[in-house]
Amino acid sequence: MTDTPDLKTAQAFATSWNNLPSGSVYTFEQFEDWFQPLNKNDVEGKNVLELGCGNASLLVHLIRWNPGSVTGVDLGDSVTAAQTNMKATGFSKFSIIKDDLVKFNSDNKYDIVYSIGVLHHLKEPKAGFDSVLRNTKPGGKFHCWVYAKEGNSIVIYLVDPIRLIASRLPWWFTKYFIATPLAALYFIYAHLITSFHISFMPLYSYSAWITKRNFLFFRHVAFDQLVTPQTAYIDKKTIEGWLRDERIVQDSTYIVFRNGNSWKFGGKFKN
Ligand SMILES: C[S@@+](CC[C@H](N)C(=O)[O-])C[C@H]1O[C@@H](n2cnc3c(N)ncnc32)[C@H](O)[C@@H]1O
Repeated sequence: MTDTPDLKTAQAFATSWNNLPSGSVYTFEQFEDWFQPLNKNDVEGKNVLELGCGNASLLVHLIRWNPGSVTGVDLGDSVTAAQTNMKATGFSKFSIIKDDLVKFNSDNKYDIVYSIGVLHHLKEPKAGFDSVLRNTKPGGKFHCWVYAKEGNSIVIYLVDPIRLIASRLPWWFTKYFIATPLAALYFIYAHLITSFHISFMPLYSYSAWITKRNFLFFRHVAFDQLVTPQTAYIDKKTIEGWLRDERIVQDSTYIVFRNGNSWKFGGKFKN
C-alpha cells in the first residue's frame, strides 16, 4: 500500500480521527442531511459499503437504518478508531478494512456504496468515483459528496494557501496554533452573519448549517481542511461528465448543491 499517492493524505487524516473523543463527530441530523435523497428505505436490509470511512462517524449513525451489513474502507490508521466506534454500537455485522479505496475491488458487490468527503482529497478523484461504481451491485445505488468549486472562492483563495503550508507542519501545531484561531474567527463571523441574516455574505448558507454545532465541531472542520496535503474543488460540469457513464441508469441520477459550497450526487447502477 506504500505505492498509493493518497497515503500521506490518509495518514494526515488519521491524526485528526485518532485524536477525537469516541463516537461520531456528527449528529444524526447531519448524517441524514448528507445522505438525503437516500433514506432508511434505501438502506434497510442492504449491504452497504463506505469508501473512506474515517473513524466511522457516518457508519455509526447508518446502523440505525437497519442495514444487513456495513463495510468501511480507509487507508489511514483511523481504522483503529473506526473499529472501536463500531464495536461500541453493538451492531455485529460490520467490517472495517484498511485499504486503498481506489484499488478496492470487492468480490461481493454492494447494494449501496457511498463516499462522503473523500473523492476531493484523492490524487485522482475520478479514479475514486470509478471505484464507487465498480463496487456497486447491478441495480444498486451509489451516493457521493464533494467540495464544490462553485461557492468556495473564499476557501480556495484564503484557506487553501494556508493549507499548503499547514499540511507540512506537525499535526498538533496545525491543530492548536492554526486551526484553532482560524476556527475562532470563522465561528464569530458565522454567528454574526446568520444572527443578523446578512445573506449576501460569503458562506452564508454553509454558516447557517454549521452554527447549529459548537466550537469544537468548527475546529474539527478547520483542522480537517488544513491537515490534508491534497484537496480539489470539483465543478458541476465534471460531475455531470462522471455521471454520463454508460453503466449508470441515466434517469436515476441527481446532483444537489448543498449549503452553497458542495455537491451531493448519485444514482443507480444498471441491472
Ligand atoms: C474527510 S475524511 C471523511 C471521512 C468520512 N467519510 C466522514 O465523512 O466522516 C476523508 C477520509 O478519506 C480517507 N482516504 C483518503 N484517501 C484514501 C484512499 N486512497 N483510500 C482509502 N481512504 C482514503 C482518509 O484517510 C480520511 O479518513
